[in-house]
Amino acid sequence: MSAAEDHEPDRDVTGEVLEEDLDVEGSLRPRRLDEFIGQPRVREQLELVLEGARRRGAPPDHILLSGPPGLGKTSLSMIVAAELGAAIRLTSGPALERAGDLAAMLSNLMPGDVLFIDEIHRIARPAEEMLYLAMEDFRVDVVVGKGPGATSIPLDIAPFTLVGATTRSGALTGPLRDRFGFTGHMEFYDAGELELVLRRAAVILGVDLRPDGAVEIARRSRGTPRIANRLLRRVRDFAEVRADGAVTLDVAREALAVYDVDELGLDRLDRAVLSALVRSFGGGPVGISTLAVAVGEEPGTVEEVCEPYLVRAGMLARTPRGRVATAAAWAHLGMVPPPDVTGQASQALF
Ligand SMILES: Nc1ncnc2c1ncn2[C@@H]1O[C@H](COP(=O)(O)OP(=O)(O)O)[C@@H](O)[C@H]1O
Ligand SMILES: [Mg+2]
Repeated sequence: MSAAEDHEPDRDVTGEVLEEDLDVEGSLRPRRLDEFIGQPRVREQLELVLEGARRRGAPPDHILLSGPPGLGKTSLSMIVAAELGAAIRLTSGPALERAGDLAAMLSNLMPGDVLFIDEIHRIARPAEEMLYLAMEDFRVDVVVGKGPGATSIPLDIAPFTLVGATTRSGALTGPLRDRFGFTGHMEFYDAGELELVLRRAAVILGVDLRPDGAVEIARRSRGTPRIANRLLRRVRDFAEVRADGAVTLDVAREALAVYDVDELGLDRLDRAVLSALVRSFGGGPVGISTLAVAVGEEPGTVEEVCEPYLVRAGMLARTPRGRVATAAAWAHLGMVPPPDVTGQASQALF
């Protein structure tokens, strides 16, 4: 494999949403809390938050959902609105570059509405400051005019619930984080939960998914429902074109090989990161920016998309001095780790 090929990130399986997939993703989204598979902790916590609010007849506290891409943050946000019987307005941090855009959204809210801000850690500073007052006092200060003659007029807005989603809760400023009454930390799904996700998706999409096929795809989905659903669709293509349509163990194996998903479910970007870490930096420690340059990716992508799963799978460790490959990572690349790595405690969790 050439270096360039090795390092080319596979957007399709790393969790980025492709345009063509948006419709399918919409159809596969769970609509109610009891349809939402896995995340027992967050689900129980949210149930209490929502039930408490229902009994008081008031909007619940603001909710923050954090975790890696594809674990169900957007789905859960929509479920919050559905469970409350409320309307949901959708926007994202990067879209709120000017405070005026946020002011317009806030002043159009109806009582009890849910405002969903995706990637809220990327919100621009002026919009963030406007959000403080809105979250706390349901007010916005609208600035009229420019320069020294500008005045700010306080405006009441409807009581609403902000639901924020973030892949990096650590990047949120303290004041913003403090204004959320509840933070749900989304965890990677285990293989059994992903099997349920796959079976549900197979019914909706009309895929002939066999039990052993489901086990194999679940096992290789990086603990992520979005990836499970996407792999199911790619394996279905393979099953329909090269086999009789049934997604069996053998079909799943052959198809996943075609799509460069390895035995552990790591995709090309994951492997590129491990490979750079081991081959170029002797297993580390190496800083995230240096590692990202080595694989030709943004540090944020490596940190938010790749790393969490590599850490979870026991392949990569974050240390104060930088990222380090574990013995399992060396073994996965078919290499013998240096003696100091062999001794360290590390194990693959899947
Ligand atoms: N708990 C779940 N049960 C079933 N499907 C899920 C679940 N969580 C996520 N999905 C599937 O994964 C896709 C991506 O979820 P999404 O909510 O967009 O994740 P995030 O916003 O965290 O990136 C959804 O369209 C849905 O098909
Ligand atoms: Mg999302």
